[in-house]
Amino acid sequence: MCGIVGYIGQKDGTEIILEGLEKLEYRGYDSAGLAVIDKNRLRYSKHEGKLSNLKESIREEPISGTLGIGHTRWATHGVPSNENSHPHMNGEENIAVVHNGIIENYLILKKELIDRGYTFKSDTDTEIVVHLIDFYYEGDLLGAVTKAVDRLKGAYSLGIISRLHPDELIAVRYESPLILGIGHGELFVASDIPAILNRTRKVVYLENNDVAKLSRDSYLIYNGNRLVEREIKEIEWDIEAASKDGYDHFMLKEIHQQPQAIKDTLLRRIDNNGSIFLENINITAEELKKINRVYIVACGTAYHAGLLGKYMLEQFVRVVVIADIASEFRYNDNFIDEGTLVIIVSQSGETADTLAALREAKSKGARILSITNVVGSSVARESQDIFYTWAGPEIAVASTKAYTTQLVAFYILSLYFGRLKGNLEENLYHEIVNELKELPDKVKKTIYSVDLIAMEIAEKIKDKSSLFYIGRGLDYYTSLEAALKLKEISYIHAEAFGGGELKHGSIALIEEDTPVIAIATQQNLYDKTVSNIKSVKSRGAYVIGITRERNTDLGTICDKVVYLDESFNIFMPLLSVILPQLIAYYTALIKGNDVDKPRNLAKSVTVE
Ligand code: G6P
Repeated sequence: MCGIVGYIGQKDGTEIILEGLEKLEYRGYDSAGLAVIDKNRLRYSKHEGKLSNLKESIREEPISGTLGIGHTRWATHGVPSNENSHPHMNGEENIAVVHNGIIENYLILKKELIDRGYTFKSDTDTEIVVHLIDFYYEGDLLGAVTKAVDRLKGAYSLGIISRLHPDELIAVRYESPLILGIGHGELFVASDIPAILNRTRKVVYLENNDVAKLSRDSYLIYNGNRLVEREIKEIEWDIEAASKDGYDHFMLKEIHQQPQAIKDTLLRRIDNNGSIFLENINITAEELKKINRVYIVACGTAYHAGLLGKYMLEQFVRVVVIADIASEFRYNDNFIDEGTLVIIVSQSGETADTLAALREAKSKGARILSITNVVGSSVARESQDIFYTWAGPEIAVASTKAYTTQLVAFYILSLYFGRLKGNLEENLYHEIVNELKELPDKVKKTIYSVDLIAMEIAEKIKDKSSLFYIGRGLDYYTSLEAALKLKEISYIHAEAFGGGELKHGSIALIEEDTPVIAIATQQNLYDKTVSNIKSVKSRGAYVIGITRERNTDLGTICDKVVYLDESFNIFMPLLSVILPQLIAYYTALIKGNDVDKPRNLAKSVTVE
């Protein structure tokens, strides 16, 4: 999991590449490097640590050139170090390669290359690529690259330059995202759009097995040795959308963007009469009737949205729904046939496990519907039906607005399919849609009303070693997401328990002053949750309750209670997740953690 930027044009590539890498740091940030061709010399700089280390080194020892490639890394093979940073060079240092992905057969290839006399400087899988290119090189860089990538198994997007070819930048895509940016007299290569959006809005999405040869004012794309045409797309969103907008962190900005993101996701689909229009969903009533089972498959936060989605679909569409994590699903012997609908949920649309699960299900005949935030992502391109969450780019590793818009996607899909199948009565449908439209405002109000309380709770829990979230029904699913948020950025051990399950083991963990946050918004289960709260309270827990306005009695049971606006049970998860998001944010902040780039994590996990 890494980010790639490449440049060929008339300007100083170093500056352009560094600027692009900065926008890609969310893809990995344990080391960075770049290589440029400067008057037929290949010059490079690469450093362990954040991009600032690379910048500092280039400030001290400037390198420049009008052709170059850069890389920000998230280690897979080999620890973060200067040697393992990209670019990797061949022995004579006349070819340089940057890589995103994983070469699965690298050990076999490494042995073969060592037997041929090649020596390796790093522990990476990437270094075999540059030596393979060197091995096949006979004066034609593109030819050598084509032969080399033929030998690779795994996932890779590559940027390649050589001092012997000062007018050529080669880009390769297989299973890892890569785009070309089209400028005037200059061309760009990048793992994602924000890297080049300051420079151009014209973009080509490379497809699997594409090998592109870029010169200063033209490019050719080959696929399987055939010359191919790829459509140029115009990017409509603004670079501002990918910057912090005055907030201290992307995460805080993204929490505050939720009302707008939810509104955008809703309003493009529901007209004034309450009818739903889904432009990329093609399932007919006839086809829907034939669907006998639905799997929802995703990773991390997207999986938690899927758990809530399962409930919605079962409720409104009356179909059996199984939610599973992609890394398990892909290796399970699932019941999949032509009557199965698999709903893939992925913010990035590039998560390796999720993509593999999609392909596995598709190969067995399932219909694939994806919920994703990235137009043109791999998940989107390989699905028959797509629901785009219009959350805009999410940069913070801890997902917030992608999650809430994924919930909205499930609300809309369940209502739409419920009506299509004839299971949802018209009046009830309109009542629910009307309330759905109120949610952006309710979410906004919640963000402002719980902000201060979140800070106070963060102070209270910052030195604790453990914290537990409890809830029942939909509140349990929200608890899972709430605990994940706290873990990933505050590094406090947090777990979620279904309230009724506590007595079967977990309650043994409760001692004097153990913080427990109880989510109690599901009115049909409210009394049950109250009993669970009492049981942890009587064992000494410090309990914070999150509930609806009407449940004033909770104030006499908990140490602190946060009241939320009233809404339907199914919509309460949109409101109840806000406080946990902010608690996680402020706790990480107080502890001095890197909020947007927590340790050991990356935003987009494009390797298994
Ligand atoms: C990573 C991120 C999580 C995210 C998960 C799935 O682990 O850190 O925030 O939920 O990947 O990502 P996706 O892009 O498929 O939703």
